Amino acid sequence: MQIAVDGPAGAGKSTIAKIIAKQLGIQYLDTGAMYRAITYGVLSRGIDFEDQQAVTALAQNSEISFEGSEVFLDGRRVTEEIRTPEVSKNTSRVACIAAVRQCMVAQQRAIAGRQSVIMDGRDIGSVVLPEADYKFYLDASVEERARRRFEELKAKGTDKSLEEIKADIITRDYNDSHREEGPLVCTEDAVVVDTTGMDIQGVSQYILSFIERGGQRGL
Ligand code: CDP
Repeated sequence: MQIAVDGPAGAGKSTIAKIIAKQLGIQYLDTGAMYRAITYGVLSRGIDFEDQQAVTALAQNSEISFEGSEVFLDGRRVTEEIRTPEVSKNTSRVACIAAVRQCMVAQQRAIAGRQSVIMDGRDIGSVVLPEADYKFYLDASVEERARRRFEELKAKGTDKSLEEIKADIITRDYNDSHREEGPLVCTEDAVVVDTTGMDIQGVSQYILSFIERGGQRGL
């Protein structure tokens, strides 16, 4: 089984996808973590983001792996490092490079070819898994998404104001929706879930019951 979950920043994709993966006993793949890991690699090596060749070479020569919820870049654990505001802000600069995307998409498809998966990202239903059995597009108002990210970062001790986070999200959504290769789109066959005002349990139950009904809408 293949399940695609797309949507803008802070819509709750990864939280929901992890719950669904556990409930259905299938693999969860966080594709955003892959782009984040490359971005972290670019920052830590001091590579210029404008040097697309160098960024692409890094993506092609890096090994990204997962163990449970831990993320590794070339064998080094980078789980927390890839979630800093600096990485979040710069990831769309890496994710707009076509050759980087092709490299990530090939790895994501290879993983999906070996097992049942639920993947979250921006281009899953449109590019990575266009034949997915289920496609969901999670959305929420920008205010709510900024508030969620604010709470998440505050819990981790990161000191960023709600207004700064909201501005970062607006820029990131714009960049993600306007790039040429693999932009964030809601495909016609995706089920749109507006999660504004819904809690995690409500969203995951809605998605699970949709899948249990074999994709019939209603209720
Ligand atoms: O969790 P959040 O929605 O903030 O972001 P993420 O899913 O970790 O993705 C971080 C960034 O990676 C996005 O803003 C995109 O620029 C990029 N990305 C992408 O281009 N394609 C994907 N399939 C997943 C992420």
